Amino acid sequence: MSFLSFVAEKGMFLPFQGSTVAPAVDALFKFIFWISAFFFLLIVGLMLAFVIRFRKRPGYTKPAHAPTHNTLLELTWSGIPLILVMVMGVWGFKVFLDINTPPANAYEVQVTGQKWKWLFTYPNGYVDEALHVPVDQPVRLVMTSEDVIHSFFVPAFRVKRDVVPGRYTKLWFRATKPGTYQVFCAEYCGTGHSDMLTSVAVHEPGGFEKWLDQASNLLNTLPPAEAGRKLYQSRGCAQCHSVDGSGGIGPTFKELFGHKVALRGGGQAVADEDYVRESILEPMAKIVAGFEPVMPTYKGRLKDQEITALIAYLKTLAAENRPAAEEKGR
Ligand code: CUA
Repeated sequence: MSFLSFVAEKGMFLPFQGSTVAPAVDALFKFIFWISAFFFLLIVGLMLAFVIRFRKRPGYTKPAHAPTHNTLLELTWSGIPLILVMVMGVWGFKVFLDINTPPANAYEVQVTGQKWKWLFTYPNGYVDEALHVPVDQPVRLVMTSEDVIHSFFVPAFRVKRDVVPGRYTKLWFRATKPGTYQVFCAEYCGTGHSDMLTSVAVHEPGGFEKWLDQASNLLNTLPPAEAGRKLYQSRGCAQCHSVDGSGGIGPTFKELFGHKVALRGGGQAVADEDYVRESILEPMAKIVAGFEPVMPTYKGRLKDQEITALIAYLKTLAAENRPAAEEKGR
């Protein structure tokens, strides 16, 4: 992609405007930016010009009288900035109110931030790792954190708000174009901060309800191992546990099920159904050697049926590799 076509597509400074408030935020930002750029150039330019023009030359003598002040000039250079900052203040406050006042009919999604992922709970109780919303409908997010302060940031929507443990913060937007948009955590929250990414999927009219219906009925419509694979991706397991044997914050799931695992502080356990269930519900009970006790509990967040599906998925990951594992003398 050439530079020019990139600029034409993505814009020079700001990301795509994906929400109803984005144009207002951008207009205000550009106003402040260009005013600042103008005065920066004016002030620094005059300063440099004066430094050169009035530098001390040989044969310089101090004048007997120099002007002490100029009332008209001083009123002008106070009055113009005063007007400009008042325009910025009033305009900014108006945009601030728009961003902070959700319409009464907004669709509500609960958001949980935790090290290091986002969970979205829909009104029917379904939980997903990505945010899905209908296009052209106001959506209100009620957000809280399980651990430290995070910050929910969707650049394309021009909305960002801290997500704080022990309290609820709110944010709303109305997406204007179907598509997928990046979500960042914008508050440093530890090792995995920069990986605390997810996306907002904005659905075409009618598509959102269809998606929610399908996603909430995974267990009824899919075989357990396949439902387990989806849960693994959508409920945050994938952030820390790989399935290909590569390292992560938690142990890999490859060749895990049915195998012996060494525990922190000595001893070992066999990764059977009860071990997996316990590790999901009481993650601190048995920590695998070489890993930190950082996993949050899923008690109350995964149903029994979902845990069973996850176990079914783990079994497929072990079965694929059973011959190799057996050679290692288990
Ligand atoms: Cu969560 Cu940074």
